[in-house]
Amino acid sequence: EPKAPPEIRREDYTPFAWLVPATRLDFELGIDKTRITATLEVERNPAADPTPTIRLNGDGPKLVSLKCDGGDCAGHTMDGDDLVVTLEGDSHTIEIVTEIEPSANSQLMGLYASNGMLCTQCESEGFRRITFFPDRPDVLSTYTVKMSGPKALFPILLCNGNKVDEGSDGDDHWAEWHDPWPKPSYLFALVAGDLVARNDSFTTMNGREVELNVWVRDGDLERTEHAMESLKRSMKWDEEVFGREYDLDLYNIVAVSDFNMGAMENKGLNVFNTKYVLADPETATDGDFDGVEGVIGHEYFHNWSGNRITCRDWFQLSLKEGFTVLRDQLFSQDMGSEPVKRIEDVRVLRGAQFPEDSGPLAHPIRPDSYREISNFYTATVYNKGAEVIRMMRTMAGEGAFRKGTDLYFDRHDGEAATCEDFIKSIEDGAGLDLTQFRLWYSQAGTPRVSVELAHEGGEAVLTLSQVVPDTPGQTGKKPMPIPLKIALFDRESAEHSGEQLVVLDTESDTFRFPGFAQLPVLSINRTFSAPVTISRNIERSDLVFLARHDDDPFARYEAMQDLMVGHLVAASKGELGDEERAAGTTDIVTALRSVIADEALDDLMRGELLSMPSQTYIMEQIEAADPGRIFEERESLKATIGTELKDELHRLYERAEAVPYSQSAEAKGARKLKTLVLVYAAASDPQKAAELAAHQYDRADNMTDRQGALMVLTGIDSAERTGRLLDFYNRYRDNALVVDKWFSLQAMSLHPNVIEHVKALAQHEDFTMKNPNRVRSLYMGFAVNPHGFHAASGEGYRLIADLILELDPINAQTAARFVPSLGRWRKMEPVRSAMMREQLERIAAAPKLSRDTFEQVTRSLG
Ligand code: ARG
Ligand code: ZN
Repeated sequence: EPKAPPEIRREDYTPFAWLVPATRLDFELGIDKTRITATLEVERNPAADPTPTIRLNGDGPKLVSLKCDGGDCAGHTMDGDDLVVTLEGDSHTIEIVTEIEPSANSQLMGLYASNGMLCTQCESEGFRRITFFPDRPDVLSTYTVKMSGPKALFPILLCNGNKVDEGSDGDDHWAEWHDPWPKPSYLFALVAGDLVARNDSFTTMNGREVELNVWVRDGDLERTEHAMESLKRSMKWDEEVFGREYDLDLYNIVAVSDFNMGAMENKGLNVFNTKYVLADPETATDGDFDGVEGVIGHEYFHNWSGNRITCRDWFQLSLKEGFTVLRDQLFSQDMGSEPVKRIEDVRVLRGAQFPEDSGPLAHPIRPDSYREISNFYTATVYNKGAEVIRMMRTMAGEGAFRKGTDLYFDRHDGEAATCEDFIKSIEDGAGLDLTQFRLWYSQAGTPRVSVELAHEGGEAVLTLSQVVPDTPGQTGKKPMPIPLKIALFDRESAEHSGEQLVVLDTESDTFRFPGFAQLPVLSINRTFSAPVTISRNIERSDLVFLARHDDDPFARYEAMQDLMVGHLVAASKGELGDEERAAGTTDIVTALRSVIADEALDDLMRGELLSMPSQTYIMEQIEAADPGRIFEERESLKATIGTELKDELHRLYERAEAVPYSQSAEAKGARKLKTLVLVYAAASDPQKAAELAAHQYDRADNMTDRQGALMVLTGIDSAERTGRLLDFYNRYRDNALVVDKWFSLQAMSLHPNVIEHVKALAQHEDFTMKNPNRVRSLYMGFAVNPHGFHAASGEGYRLIADLILELDPINAQTAARFVPSLGRWRKMEPVRSAMMREQLERIAAAPKLSRDTFEQVTRSLG
């Protein structure tokens, strides 16, 4: 029986009994063995209850020696993994020597070896794998770090802050770094290795000259231009939009190929997954380029929202992550197409966060308890957290919101703050009353808003009501303020007299709009102003109307999606007679045709309007969903569209094909359309599609076209498929990020034998459990492939459970991220539901599970 790790509760927070004003770290670096001498200046925290001991967290470092004030300590003991030292006076110097084995660190937390270099990842609790330390975000310290090691292995030595000294000692060399800004241990970082930099500079609004470096392996330098440009744009944008200026003379970014997440905002020394640094047209898609820009921005924006103001405890994670995601979303909106970015962000929210909110892992954006904090780096904390702050911005207006964020940055600079501090600053600065709005921080679950529109005595009468659904451990919830942007369209002129913001803050409310001779058409939740689901009985003809005429691009997209979702849900449930089915598809085809013909649209937006809703999203709309049935209906609608709009789509393709490669919105839009046309063709005429895709593949001068073509080909059993897959591998076998694509395209394919393919790929010489990008490319690709994962045999579920069990001892954080896919069992039809549950039980019964996986599996079983 695995013993349950303890539950940590938000309400139990107490300040740490000691302050650590200064920390000195001395690293003697080696790949197999690194020795660390940590010197901590500690003094009693006047704001905390005094204790006779200091607790220094540890997670495995070997304790070599311990001294207090240069001699023996009054006493010390191990309490589990922690070192507890007796301290009698009010201020002391503690010196701790530890040893660790970076090359044996497969968890990629703490200090580890990647590709011959050494790097760190300390958020959330990785620092304790390096040395014993009060490893909690409310203990801020000023760090001075000396790094030394063999010059040949580690020609470059990097740490937070500024380099203050360096020297040589035979074959060894050393560098000393000082970071003037007090920080919590999770923001500590060092990197040592054979690296080269793209170097540039940025002059801040107050004239500070900042040196910028993007460090990569030799040979990758040409692929760092986009990252550097993105960094400079981020710095400029944060000055202009949030008034934030950078505060050091140096900003380093390092790309590493073994990384659990996207990137990390360590002060002055961001460590990035290579996936979010390296990009050029030959090897990165348009989506990859956008990903680099977004993540570079995200980590940069953390310098204020995260580093200058950090979190008091990990329950406050959304304080920095929700706010920083909002900031990176607004940045990307400003750099590219605002509506398309908004649509993409909503798609991520609905695809990843709504399922969290409606499943066994539901938690508020500010959780109340956890066993392993790594499990709470979720779409809820990040993406719903961003939506919650976006709602404040919508209600306040941009100008007032900026007053609120200015006050927040001013009031809490240098502090470890709480979500409550943020809300209060917005309240005071923006002049909002957020008393009831605070419920968004404590109540989990996606609110459902029911909408009715009537016409009475020359007035449009809008009745709204809300339900916040029960979630595990939370029932009987209170109504929350839900800001909904609406417009009422006149049916004749297809115009409205202005957008309005209505805030539904009770269970049910009625809003009256005079001056309507007949029932208008309602456009609601425009720009997705609130992260809720809308349920309404709207005539299909009204959806067609909005899909044609809505002047809010998001609402127009939404109408198009609703039209298709409504049809596919009804069809999958077997609710459609032949006539209804025909009428439904006719409406969809008519609306799509008008989208194709609309000259006012740009192609990026046109591509969104022409895209079908994902299978996952449709599945979410149905109780006891049958994925096989939904898959068939979706494919059949795709085929109908492909057939009915064959000529129009073909003309779109030809027009797009004539646009030469560039990173302009026009060229990106053209590429999006080309692959979209192939997707429809693949359903309606697979042989023809295979030829077209092979043609696109062969003449591609960029990865977007090439990957798009190959994606379509992987689903079509054909000679073209085999040939191009082989070509792709041979062409790019030396580029790990592109080989990842090769794995994931096959894992995500609609091919009937996808399970066999995945099993074979797991045996491929390039597959390894040690590299998270590779693991994710094969198995995340598969886990989100409803066609493979939900195969009727249950084999897909077994495959993912086997993976979790094998990966757990190697990389627990990554293993645990696969559990939620099995956790969806309650939403599935009974046979699949039982098979999924069975796999969760099999994992739970394993003799030894990590804290990460243990927590996710137990919560998923409920
Ligand atoms: N703070 C990082 C970011 O969002 C993510 C770090 C995640 N670390 C973890 N152990 N889960 O930019
Ligand atoms: Zn972040």
